[in-house]
Amino acid sequence: MSIQILGTGAYVPERIVTNDDLSRMVDTSDEWIQQRVGVRERHVSVSESAADMGAKAAQRALEAAGITADQLDLIVGATVSPDRICPSVSASVQEQIGASCPAFDVNSACSGFLFALDTAAAFIARGGIRYALVLGAERLSRIVDWSDRSTCVIFGDGAGAFVIAPGENYLASHLFTQGGDSVLAIPLGKGNSPFYEKEEEPLAVHMSGQETFKFAVKQIVGGLNLIAEQAGVTPDQFDYIVPHQANYRIIDLAARRLGIPMERFMLNLDRYGNTSSASVPISFDELARSGKLKKGDLIAMCAFGGGLSSAACLIRW
Ligand code: ACO
Repeated sequence: MSIQILGTGAYVPERIVTNDDLSRMVDTSDEWIQQRVGVRERHVSVSESAADMGAKAAQRALEAAGITADQLDLIVGATVSPDRICPSVSASVQEQIGASCPAFDVNSACSGFLFALDTAAAFIARGGIRYALVLGAERLSRIVDWSDRSTCVIFGDGAGAFVIAPGENYLASHLFTQGGDSVLAIPLGKGNSPFYEKEEEPLAVHMSGQETFKFAVKQIVGGLNLIAEQAGVTPDQFDYIVPHQANYRIIDLAARRLGIPMERFMLNLDRYGNTSSASVPISFDELARSGKLKKGDLIAMCAFGGGLSSAACLIRW
């Protein structure tokens, strides 16, 4: 049994931080950030946790699906920036929206939402689930080093969610992990154990930008080709592609390698930056609410990030 998407929702915090704001904090410029990354501004939480934002996105997805929280049988969330290790973001969302089903998080960095979606799809295939909520919720502002210009200009906060149910519209999926921490890592920070042999690294995003860039382009192209093959179509038949919003140049290069016009790629990173696991569902929600989608459209989603990890899937609208 496959799945269908019944409703989507997204939420970003009110506070907008522009490139000019950042250029007053670190040695950067609006011109550099727009040219090298493609971001103009990002939303930053001043008080809301990842779970608070996730609950708001979830409410919107429930409304769009026309169901209530008590009808949910499962919540699977993705995050790399929870305010606490426990309770999980999904458990806090469950409490805030008034659901009573099992709820847990998966962590696969920026690919996390697509890993969570595939996990929920597998639960649905097992049977016994009528409605599941899948969400990506991130308060990356709490794990970014705001004095590091090579990372702080990239990220933003927000959340996105899908309500899914048994159906026939999940045509293909591909998950990939290449374990290792040399390209991308977010250490948890120090504890105070007197027994550890070496100093623990402080909490912050550590990223080799160019290595991530190369991995991203390769995985987007490879992932989209693979899901097309699984579904018996070619990538140029995709009506829309919803990619992880990390860098305009990554998406542009992947689009050129695939021979797919950029107009078919959903882009909003200029307004939100990279919201990690929230990026795909926020972008999908924007596309779904744009009025552009027609029944039967083929929509591919793809993401990449820490792990290293990547994921892609294809749905029929
Ligand atoms: N403003 C001005 N200059 C900067 C900035 C900045 N914000 N950041 C870096 N620079 C400088 C560097 O210091 C360097 O200067 P130098 O030549 O004097 O040494 C120069 O710009 C070029 O730096 P590069 O790192 O080579 O720049 P690049 O073109 O690779 O862009 C970027 C960097 C934007 C990070 C890019 O590599 C990228 O987008 N990589 C992918 C990141 C990504 O997708 N991450 C997603 C996963 S995140 C996750 O999973 C949590």
